[in-house]
Amino acid sequence: MRFPSRHLLRLCLPVAILAMVSAGMPAPARDTPCPPALPAHPDVACLRALYSAPSVRWPSPEVEPGIAWQELAPLPLPVDLPGNPSTPAKIKLGRRLFFDTVLSRSRQLACASCHDPDLGWADGRRVSFGHDRQAGRRNAPSVATSAHMAPLFWDGRAATLEEQALHPIADPTEMSFSADAAVRRLRRDASYRRDFAEVFAQPRIDANKLGQAIAAFERSLSPRNSRFDRFLRGNAHALEDAQLRGLHLFRTTAGCMNCHNGPALTDNGFHNLGLHFHGRSRQDLGRYEITGDPADSGRFRTPSLRGVASTAPYMHNGLIPRLSGVLAFYNVGGARPRPPAASAAHADPFPQPDPLLRPRGLSRQDLQDLEAFLQAL
Ligand code: HEC
Ligand code: HEC
Repeated sequence: MRFPSRHLLRLCLPVAILAMVSAGMPAPARDTPCPPALPAHPDVACLRALYSAPSVRWPSPEVEPGIAWQELAPLPLPVDLPGNPSTPAKIKLGRRLFFDTVLSRSRQLACASCHDPDLGWADGRRVSFGHDRQAGRRNAPSVATSAHMAPLFWDGRAATLEEQALHPIADPTEMSFSADAAVRRLRRDASYRRDFAEVFAQPRIDANKLGQAIAAFERSLSPRNSRFDRFLRGNAHALEDAQLRGLHLFRTTAGCMNCHNGPALTDNGFHNLGLHFHGRSRQDLGRYEITGDPADSGRFRTPSLRGVASTAPYMHNGLIPRLSGVLAFYNVGGARPRPPAASAAHADPFPQPDPLLRPRGLSRQDLQDLEAFLQAL
């Protein structure tokens, strides 16, 4: 029967070629690389076929009902805050300020002391140390993706980058100065007066302009060329097989997309993973300390996962040294400390575990694949 088989060949060949080209291996002996009902662990040829389309056409992720998820996608260009358009001169001034110790009381700390480009724009420490080498209580996040985060800080206490930039200057455990004192110092410096005059129509240096310049610089850092970005832009080979399996697990069985979704892999929401140390000396109740809402107790803002491989250690308190540890933590459903038997009437509300966390039963291979995916971000 020559005719039907030629017909069949015409149907199968494009799929087979696609699979061969994208997987670099012979196509499986069937007419489509994916079975009709997708198993939990589809083979790589099937995954390559599914994920070679633009991400808007990927299969839906597995998220709990009611979650307003966004698909993973290339990071868009950051949007400037109205009233603070980025210009090359403003970015340059912001960069100068970011790396300048002039903003700290002791003239020993710059923003870059804790957000070091060589350390993924973080500081590689469990918690940062600042003025007089005092330890802070939280881990420094990378600022590379902060253009896509709102609100800012682990507890969301700053709404914009412009506003955020003034906090560390005044924080007694960080630069231990004040925005006004920093402004007075800058006004006494002729080269800063010149730089501000070049950037702003109304050149008198003030805290507002200081925040604007630093924010413009931070927006210019937005990363665009990770392996994952190249994959998203259509380079099928940018992700290795393990990374591709990890991507699929991230979107399905592992449940990560419930919170880490959209281009920056964050819902910009707040969740309690159980790392609050309620009632202990290290207690940190996160968002609750800002809003006073008992429901916010123990909640921290979901961090972006862009560039996450280079910003160990992890979590708001830097408690987990490696990505493999983070994944093992999620696989058992996060931390579930028990409330004290008899809590004092004045005690802070005990944080409730986030309902989106549960044991996932991921195998060792799964965890390795997920880690490989995180390395590609
Ligand atoms: C002493 C170390 C230190 C210095 C100096 C410092 N930071 Fe930070 N930065 C941190 C820590 C720690 C956090 C997290 C604190 C929190 O969330 O409560 C942080 C948070 C941030 C965030 C929020 C990121 C996010 O994902 O929410 C931005 C943006 C930022 N810093 C920018 C700056 C700028 C700009 C300067 C200089 C004006 C600066 N930092 C100086 C340690 C530092
Ligand atoms: C319930 C929402 C939620 C889910 C589900 C979730 N995360 Fe997170 N993730 C967070 C929050 C919130 C934090 C910060 C928590 C803290 O510091 O207390 C975080 C922190 C992280 C960090 C540390 C990042 C850093 O810069 O410190 C990594 C890595 C991470 N998550 C990866 C994953 C992966 C992989 C999955 C799936 C296995 C996952 N997350 C599932 C909300 C979530």
